[in-house]
Amino acid sequence: IMAEKGGFKHFMLKEIYEQPRAVRDTVQGRISLDTGRVYLDPMNITEGEFRRFDRVMIAACGTSWHAGLAGKYMIEQLARVPVEVDYSSEFRYRNPVLDERTLLIVISQSGETADTIAALREAKERDARVLAICNVQGSMITREADGTILTHAGPEIGVASTKAFTAQMVALYLFALYLGQLRGIISSDEARRHAQQLAELPVKIEHLLSDTDRVEELAKEFFRATDFLYLGRGINFPIALEGALKLKEISYIHAEGYPAGEMKHGPNALIDERLPVVVINTREQGNRASELRYEKTHSNIVEVKAREGIVISVLTEGDEMSSKVSDHVIEIPAASDLLSPILAIIPLQLLAYHIAVRRGCDVDQPRNLAKSVTVE
Ligand code: G6P
Repeated sequence: IMAEKGGFKHFMLKEIYEQPRAVRDTVQGRISLDTGRVYLDPMNITEGEFRRFDRVMIAACGTSWHAGLAGKYMIEQLARVPVEVDYSSEFRYRNPVLDERTLLIVISQSGETADTIAALREAKERDARVLAICNVQGSMITREADGTILTHAGPEIGVASTKAFTAQMVALYLFALYLGQLRGIISSDEARRHAQQLAELPVKIEHLLSDTDRVEELAKEFFRATDFLYLGRGINFPIALEGALKLKEISYIHAEGYPAGEMKHGPNALIDERLPVVVINTREQGNRASELRYEKTHSNIVEVKAREGIVISVLTEGDEMSSKVSDHVIEIPAASDLLSPILAIIPLQLLAYHIAVRRGCDVDQPRNLAKSVTVE
């Protein structure tokens, strides 16, 4: 068993450490560093169709849904097409507006999740085209979709998804670049820059994983907490949701993810001197949208402190402003705004892992949960 786990104590930890490779393999061969051009796997959706879609919908469950929500920010920003994100289990119950100019993207690690298969079938019946982002070649979802972008994360055993999630975000990013280029939104100079940034990502993840002392100390300090709050804004909001999901799945601690700006409409009432509040507030220098988001979220940190909450901030290396007002800081390498979530989630996966281990939980097989849910 130890051998299967490659010397790691749990599959989940092994899979967290496989992320540099999962990301590298998912990018590999799909984008040219010279031209920035993206090459998708062959599919039954033509370039002409991709140009004509006027709407993208995304359906997925659990962690894959969080990747989808991050994908919305990527696709809207890079390809300027409106994107809606649904839980697969809700998709069929709202009489969704779909036609042949709608692309539905279904995201699934296993390719066997019943609700997501149902969403796919519903969309096809209504003449939409379906693109799958999936980690298992030959799974039901890859067989029924009009095309698939395979994530090359390799088999994922731990019930709590980690490397599949980061690979899904990479696949969505590649797809957003592809669509943006086809639609003339992204110039070739920009495309080359994106290719370069994608290529640098695995090294940054390795760097993150090379020193996890800080996260282990935090786990030691907070593993007895009964509740956690995770906050983020913009593309960091899905990371807040995913950070909270990891913690509740494997440590059984109640955790909620919230958009930072919504605090004043309810969750502020929860803050007291015992509540750890994890705030993801990364920053891309020189990117105005990112700076604005950073400043607003910085104010949210100050507000939590004013109410005596305990702030654990995930910040870009070298950040001073938010660092000064936080109780604890986890630093991640600098990255472009749309790629930083792929880094920011990693310490949160590790935090959940180390807390769960300290609580004596069955990390790889949490109670009441299954790796893939094949009933609706
Ligand atoms: C289950 C798993 C989650 C996963 C979700 C969706 O709940 O425990 O880790 O995110 O299903 O699975 P899928 O295979 O469709 O991504």
